[in-house]
Amino acid sequence: MTHWDPASYDARHGFIHGLAGGVVDLLDPQPGERILDAGSGTGHLAAQIAARGAEVVGIDASAAMVEAARARYPELRFEVADLRSWRTPETYDAVFSNATLHWILQPSAAIDTIARALRPGGRFVAEFGGHGNVERLTTALREAVGEATGRVPPPFWYFPALGAYALLLEAHGLAVTDARLFERPTPLAGGEAGLANWYREFCTHVLEPVPADERERVLARAAALARDRWVEGQWIADYVRLRIRAVKRVPPVAVAAAGARR
Ligand code: BEZ
Repeated sequence: MTHWDPASYDARHGFIHGLAGGVVDLLDPQPGERILDAGSGTGHLAAQIAARGAEVVGIDASAAMVEAARARYPELRFEVADLRSWRTPETYDAVFSNATLHWILQPSAAIDTIARALRPGGRFVAEFGGHGNVERLTTALREAVGEATGRVPPPFWYFPALGAYALLLEAHGLAVTDARLFERPTPLAGGEAGLANWYREFCTHVLEPVPADERERVLARAAALARDRWVEGQWIADYVRLRIRAVKRVPPVAVAAAGARR
């Protein structure tokens, strides 16, 4: 289980919300809209969306993240929730999500929640790790852990191919209108220590089988295996993003009723 530390997440990995401008632009929040931020983390993107005049609710599975978001943005609403099972009587004009959906290994359950939360015609806009995301970095760590424990841990995250994810959305009544899979090489802060910090923040579950007193050695070994990602004095993470927009289909009866009223 990943344990989130909001302070180090913001201090060392602020690029996660810093590089998300494109996906907020794709969301294009409008004044007065009701928008759900699924995986709101420390709340910075919810605040950016609110600054454009929308009414935002942020949900996150981590109580520590929700506490940090509430402390930073007390005027916004944040709730602890598991996206796979969360239900709301409210409906939203849009559901937004950044850097979250690759942590949920039951994508259908998450999409089901999202589809239920949207009003017909509402939009879903998300960015997260796509096929091949951080493969170099995570393969190096898994190999180093395998050398130390005798068992290479399996890949952990959900990094779908674009077509596979689009099919899942379509199966839940969401019509895909934009989709893009792109490489986004990302410099890690912290110089030489940047990669070990990234592993410590995001790969706690991969490191779990390694005895505590061996972890630093394993991190150093993983850094040696991933050395081709050390470029001109900094670690460059091999991020691949899947950015997607889909619209909840309007049921035929609603379309017919709207036609009859004209
Ligand atoms: C990501 O944002 O793509 C990511 C971050 C940490 C681990 C895996 C993926």
